[in-house]
Amino acid sequence: MSSSRLLRRSHARAQLRDARFRYPSRRETEVLKGLSLELRPGKVAALVGPSGGGKSTVCHLIEAFYYVNDGAILFDGVNIKDLDPRFLHDQISIVSQEPSLFATSPSSPTSMVPVYSMR
Ligand SMILES: Nc1ncnc2c1ncn2[C@@H]1O[C@H](COP(=O)(O)OP(=O)(O)OP(=O)(O)O)[C@@H](O)[C@H]1O
Ligand SMILES: [Mg+2]
Repeated sequence: MSSSRLLRRSHARAQLRDARFRYPSRRETEVLKGLSLELRPGKVAALVGPSGGGKSTVCHLIEAFYYVNDGAILFDGVNIKDLDPRFLHDQISIVSQEPSLFATSPSSPTSMVPVYSMR
């Protein structure tokens, strides 16, 4: 399958499958330790967790700023590594967590990140 398949769809299901990830600059810390989740077209998903728990990291990975070390990220079953990052960035909108947008501080244990939407 190629990115052209995604082009014909207005929405794609995004899946993290047993995703493991360490930032290249901080190899000693495993941020995602086998995270699996599915983001379905038309549904709202919220990532909730403590500061430093990895919520923004999930966004970075969905945007293909980094690739997972183990496991996979799939859009409609297509591995993110097989998609052109520029194509992906044209399709995805992510609103990152901003203190001014939320009543709670970004370090609140219950802080949330609006994850993404496919255009
Ligand atoms: N660019 C980066 N390079 C190295 N380590 C990073 C980087 N960004 C985040 N981290 C580390 O990855 C871990 C997860 O951070 P992340 O920013 O994803 O957490 P978060 O859940 O979004 O936290 P918050 O609620 O404070 O926004 C933390 O240990 C953080 O220090
Ligand atoms: Mg964050």
